[in-house]
Amino acid sequence: MSAELLKRGAIVYMAGRNKEKITEAVEGLAAYKNRIHPVIVDVTNQTQVQKAISDTKAEAGRIDLLFNNAGIGQGSLFETVTLADWKKIIDTNLWSVIYGVHFAVPIMLEQGFGHIVNTGSFNGIFPSSFQALYCTTKFGVTGLTECLRYEYADKGLFFSTICPANVATPIFKKDFDGRVNDEVPIPSDAYPVDKAAEYILDKVAERRGIIIVPEEPFKQLYLGYWNGNKQLEKELARVACDRRTAYEKNASL
Ligand SMILES: NC(=O)c1ccc[n+]([C@@H]2O[C@H](COP(=O)([O-])OP(=O)(O)OC[C@H]3O[C@@H](n4cnc5c(N)ncnc54)[C@H](OP(=O)(O)O)[C@@H]3O)[C@@H](O)[C@H]2O)c1
Repeated sequence: MSAELLKRGAIVYMAGRNKEKITEAVEGLAAYKNRIHPVIVDVTNQTQVQKAISDTKAEAGRIDLLFNNAGIGQGSLFETVTLADWKKIIDTNLWSVIYGVHFAVPIMLEQGFGHIVNTGSFNGIFPSSFQALYCTTKFGVTGLTECLRYEYADKGLFFSTICPANVATPIFKKDFDGRVNDEVPIPSDAYPVDKAAEYILDKVAERRGIIIVPEEPFKQLYLGYWNGNKQLEKELARVACDRRTAYEKNASL
């Protein structure tokens, strides 16, 4: 996303919690060296998010776009989940977005313009069994973003929710603690990241509210679910049942 924004002429403040990773990513975009700046921020930390946003505004003079994108995945039987797991995922996937929006909206209101793009998930508009924690946070992101989209429509502020379904990033290789297992493959049908970034930024430019990536077949799936398609209901229950059986046999999802 940062690379695509730079290609399109933006000045980018690329944020992450790990200094080495951010430095490496910024160095990888050295061709744009006057327009890319690293920002070290743990998005679960309110003070750090506030400082990152206010420092960026102070240095750049304005914030046209804010992407609240960091997130972690989760997949486990609900009965094995702890309250510490709940706290961790809500802090990372939902409070991070709340902090970002909370501190950016006043700046954007003062400017009279701005666009906040929050990364939810296809599982922020469509359920997935064994991902109840993840879905809770992502439905929350969609709800927050959609409400503000209308609330600030007459103030020059825009809001979008990115709903990736299956994009080829390292998320598939990570466990709940962020450890990468290189033996886990990224699904072969996952949508390429560069195409996803192009598509997302095209839709952001159109000021689309909900951005499903890739749009098809997932939009049809979403519509079928919300229309109460009986066949789909059966299929979702069958997939859940198969997964539980597999888990109970192999202790893995
Ligand atoms: N890829 C998909 O198919 C898919 C589907 C649905 C939704 N999404 C959403 O898309 C977003 C981006 O995920 P991705 O696919 O690009 O996965 P990713 O490669 O694992 O990226 C997630 C990023 O979030 C960062 N992060 C996690 N916790 C953080 C924290 N406390 N503070 C700062 N940064 C933190 C990670 O940093 P570290 O490297 O330091 O851990 C990592 O750079 C997430 O919100 C995810 O839920 C992705």
